[in-house]
Amino acid sequence: MKKDLLSLYDLTKEDFKEIIRRAKSLKNALREGKPQAPLAGKILGLLFDKSSTRTRLSFETGVFQLGGTSTFLNRRDIQLGRGETIADTARVISRYLDGIVIRTFEQELVEEFARWAEIPVINGLTDLLHPCQILSDLLTIEEKKGGYEGLVIAYVGDGNNVANSWINAAARIPIRLHLACPEGYDPDGGILEAGKGEAEEEIRLFRSAAEAVEDADVIYTDVWASMGQEEEQEKRAVIFKDYQVNSELVQKAKSDCIVMHCLPAHRGEEITHEVMESGQSVVFDQAENRLHAQKAILEILMGGRK
Ligand code: CP
Ligand code: NVA
Repeated sequence: MKKDLLSLYDLTKEDFKEIIRRAKSLKNALREGKPQAPLAGKILGLLFDKSSTRTRLSFETGVFQLGGTSTFLNRRDIQLGRGETIADTARVISRYLDGIVIRTFEQELVEEFARWAEIPVINGLTDLLHPCQILSDLLTIEEKKGGYEGLVIAYVGDGNNVANSWINAAARIPIRLHLACPEGYDPDGGILEAGKGEAEEEIRLFRSAAEAVEDADVIYTDVWASMGQEEEQEKRAVIFKDYQVNSELVQKAKSDCIVMHCLPAHRGEEITHEVMESGQSVVFDQAENRLHAQKAILEILMGGRK
């Protein structure tokens, strides 16, 4: 694998399989109480400019379970917040840390950091992408469905960072991706075009959520207003009202369709309370799998596994 995980385009089809295989194996080892310490003596930095529950905790818990430790870096507390450059920060922290997870606004910042850093840089979410989320979601889909190849994944809602990373995934692995987004809220145009050009299976954009979920094995949604878009919340609630994952929509998909949400959820907006709590919802297993997938990524990138 490459040094960094900045986008799912950094991975080959084989890398996807390897990460999921390692995640399953680490999950089993944890369940069986067989501690693994491939990261003993290693330290992971977490530089977060946005809030996080799952990403922060899965990486902090994950590196600890693998024998290493972590340090949480808030921009305000380090000299980056007072104008020290990315290039200088990246080179300095490379002398102390063995890897870093960055959650921030601009994808360019993560890429610039990785250019200068000698240690692995992992994208923990930017405005453009959320690659770690989709890797762990594929683990969940594989567990629930016995595999992901050929499945129809219907993403309903905002064409945001999570949607963009789904498109990147569909460019690398044979899933059928249906996206339903209101006009003006499509995924990134460049990512969509590139994805369609490379995908083995279809990537289709719909305006109708009902059409997108027809034949779906997985219905997936995310918030209508992402971090940094809070002031658009009210406007978006009106624009997205026909893109709610509710019981009526779920009934239009395959009868054994599962419902996924990366969380945090806004119940009553992009997903109803009823669907979140239904037997088809796998959202809490999905959240747990962040831990196992993040451990696989750390083990491969920081532990010297090829
Ligand atoms: N899904 C996800 O990334 O959650 P957090 O924002 O809590 O990290
Ligand atoms: N699209 C959401 C994902 C949160 C995990 C956001 O960026 O806020």
